[in-house]
Amino acid sequence: MSNALNHPALAAGRTAVVTGGAAGIGFAAAYTLAKAGMNVCIVDCREIGDSELEQMRAVCSGELQCYTVDVADAAEVARLSESIVTRFGDVGLLMNNAAIGGKRGTVWSGEEGWTRAFATNLIGVVNCVTSFVPAMLQSGLASVIVNTGSKQGITNPPGDPAYNASKAALISLTESLAHDLLMAEQSLVTAHLLIPGFTYTDMIKKHLPTKPEGAWWPSQVADAMVGGIVSGDFYILCEDNDVTRAMDERRIMWDALDIIENRPALSRWHPRFADEFANYIAGE
Ligand SMILES: NC(=O)c1ccc[n+]([C@@H]2O[C@H](COP(=O)([O-])OP(=O)(O)OC[C@H]3O[C@@H](n4cnc5c(N)ncnc54)[C@H](O)[C@@H]3O)[C@@H](O)[C@H]2O)c1
Repeated sequence: MSNALNHPALAAGRTAVVTGGAAGIGFAAAYTLAKAGMNVCIVDCREIGDSELEQMRAVCSGELQCYTVDVADAAEVARLSESIVTRFGDVGLLMNNAAIGGKRGTVWSGEEGWTRAFATNLIGVVNCVTSFVPAMLQSGLASVIVNTGSKQGITNPPGDPAYNASKAALISLTESLAHDLLMAEQSLVTAHLLIPGFTYTDMIKKHLPTKPEGAWWPSQVADAMVGGIVSGDFYILCEDNDVTRAMDERRIMWDALDIIENRPALSRWHPRFADEFANYIAGE
């Protein structure tokens, strides 16, 4: 059975760079791309585990390289891109996926949660884009950049404001990136925002040792990412086993209506709006 992916940037022999690729969604994406015959560069601040390395080697017909790099460190990322471009010539897919939670609590719970979340989730992406995009443009080949966002960056649920804000800023960055690439001369590089739903990964296992029914497996997100790239979608909005696209659309619309209807901030969680929100989601 052929695992070929129907997009020139994802063709066998092209090279994929996946940050946060040692685990979770990044690992699942790296695995899917390796199965399709791409060379795969896994970039992570921690070493990939033996079992994950074995799984990758079992399916990788191209070259596999693992780099231990902190994406928040601009100099390390610049060295990384130089080394990858020298070795492989060009990059077909750059997946900026590495991220961490902030610090659960209020906005004033502690400055270190903000610094950490923004350093990895936003500046980490800036570092990778700055280091890789010039070579991707210069190659003259079709190439894609996928930034992993979050629904929390759109609807801003209470609980981890630093993570939410970093992911909200990432939406803005990725929209600007997509537009700038569109306007760049003779550019065949496109940018996409992957928006996973609830996905069972290490990030979640810390809080929930058993996979909840409602969560997707990371491989489902990887498949959705490939499908979205092939379809040319900018927003690759994933469902999960609890939340359908229709539910997401209503939640996003409710959020936009906060401004238009001059409602209080985060009215979705405001006690005064509990019934109204429930009725809206139910389509009444
Ligand atoms: N799991 C979910 O439900 C969910 C939902 C929405 C969005 N996301 C997003 O999906 C992406 C992947 O998350 P996941 O759930 O697979 O998490 P995960 O914790 O399983 O994987 C994240 C990986 O990123 C690496 N990493 C963290 N900081 C890094 C740094 N500074 N430099 C390099 N690597 C670093 C970690 O070591 C880890 O291997 C993240 O961007 C996350 O925000 C996840």
